[in-house]
Amino acid sequence: MKLLLPLLLAAGSLAFLAPSQVLAPQLADEGKDDPQKCPLEQSMEAMADSIRALRRSLRDPSKQADSLAGLAKLEADIVAAKSQTPRRAAKLSEAERPRFVADYRSEMIRMLEQALVVEKAVLGGQQEAALAAFEELRGLEDPAHARFTEEEQ
Ligand code: HEM
Repeated sequence: MKLLLPLLLAAGSLAFLAPSQVLAPQLADEGKDDPQKCPLEQSMEAMADSIRALRRSLRDPSKQADSLAGLAKLEADIVAAKSQTPRRAAKLSEAERPRFVADYRSEMIRMLEQALVVEKAVLGGQQEAALAAFEELRGLEDPAHARFTEEEQ
């Protein structure tokens, strides 16, 4: 009987932990290797992963090496996404499509430039400037999605 209470408590805390442990593997794979996703979606998922990691490392000046590695990966992800074509392009007329694709590519170039601004600040040990530039980079996402994805139209 003396053992019952600790056992119940242990079972209770396991039950509490279990859902997050069961969910963790699914959350870790946000679909970037999912063959159902088109290459641009996979590049976007990879970019989102890099940005999530950078949100943590940029806040901690002792993680400069992690931030630089994360930025190198993000820049490669952006370069990969830049050469692809959003699905929405297929729905546009022949006349509209070239402008749309060029605008998409220009916006990805802007994102790459902004990632380089963050990188330069990290290299110079300027944490405030790095965080401000990073916020600017993150601010590019919503307006770009409103303009270039199918879902928002
Ligand atoms: C902070 C920056 C950004 C993040 C974290 C991000 C993330 C994502 C994610 C997670 C998706 C969904 C992928 C899926 O369905 O699995 C997506 C889709 C998409 N994103 Fe981004 N994105 C960012 C910036 C941009 C920018 C700057 C552009 C355009 C220049 C863009 C254009 C698109 C397009 C077009 C799609 C839909 C894919 C398609 O049409 O084939 N994104 N993005």
